[in-house]
Amino acid sequence: MINKDNNSKKLELDILDDIGPATKIHLIEAGIDSLKDLIIRGPQDVADVTGMTMEQSIDLCNKARIKLEEANIIERTFVSATELYNKRRKIERISTGSKHFDELLGGGFEVNAITEIYGEFGSGKTQICHTSSVMVQQKRTDGGLEGGVIYIDTENTFRPERIVSISKARNIDYVKVLENIVVAKAFNSAHQELIIHEIGKIIENSNIRLLVLDSAISHYRAEYVGRGTLSERQQKINKLMHMLIRISETYKVAVILTNQIQSVPDTIFGDPFRPVGGNIIAHSSTYRIYLKKAGKNRIARIVDSPYHPEIEALFSLGEEGVTDPV
Ligand SMILES: Nc1ncnc2c1ncn2[C@@H]1O[C@H](COP(=O)(O)OP(=O)(O)O)[C@@H](O)[C@H]1O
Ligand SMILES: [Mg+2]
Repeated sequence: MINKDNNSKKLELDILDDIGPATKIHLIEAGIDSLKDLIIRGPQDVADVTGMTMEQSIDLCNKARIKLEEANIIERTFVSATELYNKRRKIERISTGSKHFDELLGGGFEVNAITEIYGEFGSGKTQICHTSSVMVQQKRTDGGLEGGVIYIDTENTFRPERIVSISKARNIDYVKVLENIVVAKAFNSAHQELIIHEIGKIIENSNIRLLVLDSAISHYRAEYVGRGTLSERQQKINKLMHMLIRISETYKVAVILTNQIQSVPDTIFGDPFRPVGGNIIAHSSTYRIYLKKAGKNRIARIVDSPYHPEIEALFSLGEEGVTDPV
């Protein structure tokens, strides 16, 4: 694993004077042992595990946020647009592996953001996840961030052999590449949530710059069936998405998640396919990419971006993973 050389900046719970010994024990037992964990897990979880009122836990999480802002670990609440602009110009990105696709995204997958990729079976979602797991490890001049990957596989489609073949086709040392991908197989939604709770600990000690979740909600779909479970399912997905947002911001990682599509039968105009998961995933993803098959190529369309028009790019899937059409 690539070790974190910067001074890892872990801020302990003790920095907040409001945390008494009993609360501290409850938090640590629940795996919350730093200020970053506090804000990633959020007020609801903190209230649940400590027995605090919601008001108290919101207050605690806010204080943790302020400390992290003061330590320059997370973005301050009030910043000038100039400062934001200068920061955005320098934002770190991971190449998709295809020049066309990179251009579509303004240079590649962004860190501190969630990119949702949806499309029909075989459209290339998993290939994108594999390729970016290789690309993120490359030098900055080669489209990477010299960082590692956490790959959460819910559909049992992660293949180390594919990482090897993509690396070989790109003349990259696959031994190192494999070493820097931590794979977690999630067997059900509760297990997936457990894995996501643990992620902070892994990122804290290693230079992870990409988190892949392939796919984000298949377990929820399989487990929460029928109308009666819909609101519980949406609540869980909502919580998942908010954790992912906070992880991406706190640890400066790019989050790529995949999503299936379903057909909407009563569509008269336009495309009858929609990503599953309803508005929750849509609203919490920063960027959304819709993949379509086009013969042996693929079309990526950027949907609902805060600053991109709805444009498309043509890319291809080859031995080297995501690439440009020949
Ligand atoms: N080694 C390979 N070389 C070229 N193309 C491949 C290779 N492996 C997979 N593919 C392409 O990827 C497609 C599957 O894409 P995948 O990412 O698994 O789809 P999804 O995850 O969207 O269901 C295959 O249909 C094939 O076109
Ligand atoms: Mg797949």
